[in-house]
Amino acid sequence: MTGLITMNDLSNEEILEILDTAERLLPVARGETYLPLLQGKILGNLFFEPSTRTRMSFETAMKRLGGDVINLGDVSTSSVVKGETLYDTIQMVDGYTDIIALRHPRQGAAQYAQDSANSPVLNGGDGAGNHPTQTMLDLFTIRQAHGTLENLDIVLAGDLRYGRTVHSLSHALIRFGCNLILASPSILRMPAEIVQDLKAHGATIVETEDLIGSLDNADVVYMTRIQKERFNDEDEYKKVAGAYKMHASQLSNCRPSMIVMHPLPRVDEIHPSVDSSRHARYFEQAFNGVVARMALLCRLLNVEVPEKIEGGK
Ligand code: CP
Repeated sequence: MTGLITMNDLSNEEILEILDTAERLLPVARGETYLPLLQGKILGNLFFEPSTRTRMSFETAMKRLGGDVINLGDVSTSSVVKGETLYDTIQMVDGYTDIIALRHPRQGAAQYAQDSANSPVLNGGDGAGNHPTQTMLDLFTIRQAHGTLENLDIVLAGDLRYGRTVHSLSHALIRFGCNLILASPSILRMPAEIVQDLKAHGATIVETEDLIGSLDNADVVYMTRIQKERFNDEDEYKKVAGAYKMHASQLSNCRPSMIVMHPLPRVDEIHPSVDSSRHARYFEQAFNGVVARMALLCRLLNVEVPEKIEGGK
């Protein structure tokens, strides 16, 4: 069965259906009502790279819906250190579980896993490739704030070269007619093939190094961390570390409805002064990972979510 490897696996209509399902599941995600739709189902969490949000929100989503989770755990205590391949590991986990969430440092690893598994694979981040489940929670957060995904002005800022969240998100946003400003240091520009692809789909794309000058006309500013772990050369990283540091004082001329998002973790690119501003949305965004992943798990496990969910405090 096909899982979710890139945003190309979902049509716009399917994206909107999943967001609607996620909306209905909010009381379940908040623990206000219990709905064991996934009782008897097991998720295999395979994280070959560090994660807090993706791994834990998948676990929360599964458990709030009555399902169970098994974790590979720390890779250094698994048989991977004995030389077991990803292919063999996937064969085992495929037999133990009904669905797999995979994070791996190698771009393309999620597709590779899906090609060799019977269960659906959810790509929880493959190197500098894609992070589509993050995109679903990002879209949920944007629609929650603006009531639509259509024709918004969106700034994607920071490490656009290695940032897998913005690779997936940019593809999804332009399919809804959004205008994108890509703000990054020159060595961290969005890969040319992605920009070309976005433009080939008719998108309006502006590339700039000037983040501050891009803020005033934005509906969404999506900040990202410089992905230190993807640099081969520490000196190259040092050249761009701390390139963008957003402070609340820079937001005084922004549209009142503008939201600041970040997939997290942050380092120093959003100053804590922004946290208490009307614009900050990154912690709600992280919470939305639970509903977005609940909706994806139900869909890929062919479990129908009721149109009306009773309960809620
Ligand atoms: N947003 C995100 O992928 O966070 P984690 O690395 O903590 O999973």
